[in-house]
Amino acid sequence: MEKENVIVVNNLYKSFGDNDILNGIGFTLQSGENLGVVGKSGIGKSVLIKCIVRLIEPDWGEVNVLGTNVLECNEIELNEIRKKVGYLFQGGALYDSMSVRENLLFPIRRTQFVDKKKDTEELIEESLRSVGLLDAIDKMPSELSGGMKKRIALARTLILRPEIILYDEPTTGLDAVTSGEISELILKIREEYNTAAIIITHDMKCAKIATDSIKIMKDGGFIVQGTYDELSHSEEKEIRDYFI
Ligand SMILES: Nc1ncnc2c1ncn2[C@@H]1O[C@H](COP(=O)(O)OP(=O)(O)O)[C@@H](O)[C@H]1O
Ligand SMILES: [Mg+2]
Repeated sequence: MEKENVIVVNNLYKSFGDNDILNGIGFTLQSGENLGVVGKSGIGKSVLIKCIVRLIEPDWGEVNVLGTNVLECNEIELNEIRKKVGYLFQGGALYDSMSVRENLLFPIRRTQFVDKKKDTEELIEESLRSVGLLDAIDKMPSELSGGMKKRIALARTLILRPEIILYDEPTTGLDAVTSGEISELILKIREEYNTAAIIITHDMKCAKIATDSIKIMKDGGFIVQGTYDELSHSEEKEIRDYFI
C-alpha cells in the first residue's frame, strides 16, 4: 500500500507566558509508521501531541491530520478528527466508578459512534480481545493491576477504530516485564488495526520494540531522527546519552 502523510506538523509554536515550549517544530507521520518521541521531562512532548488534536491551542503554525487543516477547521470537523485519532493519556485513567464494559461504552455514547457492521457489544468484545482482556469485561478498575488498566485504556481507545494513536508514556509506572508486554501489544495493534502512531516514551526498551524510528526533542524542536540502533550508536555523546 502506498504511504501517505497522515500527520504533517509545520513550524509550530506554543508558549505559556514567557515559557517557550514549541519553537517552530515540524515533522511528518506516515501511514503505518510508529514514530517514537523522546526528550527530557518537561521539554514539551505532551504539549506537542495535545496541539495535534487541539487539546492545547498552538500559537502559530500548521497541523494537518488525515488531510484536514486542524487549526482552521470548525467544531464538527475537529470532532471527526478526534474520533480518528486515539489518545492514550499519560496516566491513562479509567473511570473508577464504572466497570470495564461501561468504561468502553463511554466513548461510543459520547461520540454517538456507529459501526455499520458491528453492534456495541461486539465492538467492546473485539477491543478487549485485542488487548487480551476479554475476561475482565465485568471487573471494576480497582480489581485490575497497573498493566491491565493500561490495556483497558488502550481498548477504550481502539473502540472508535482510530486511524492514528497517540501514546503518551504508555509504559510509565509498569514493571519491566509488563512494559515489554505493552510494547509488544503496541506493535500487534498496528498490525490488527492498520494504525500509525506517535509513541512518547522515556522507556528505551519500549522505543526499541515498538518504534520504527525515534525523534529526540530539545529546545522546542527535534534535533535528530533515526532508528533505535542508529541513535544508540551515535557518535554524539548527547544523543547516545538518551539511550542509557
Ligand atoms: N496547560 C499548561 N499551562 C501552562 N504550562 C503548561 C501547560 N501544559 C504544559 N505546560 C508546561 O509546558 C512544559 C512542557 O510540558 P509537557 O509537554 O507536559 O512536558 P513533557 O515533555 O514532560 O511531556 C512544562 O514546563 C509544563 O509546565
Ligand atoms: Mg508528558
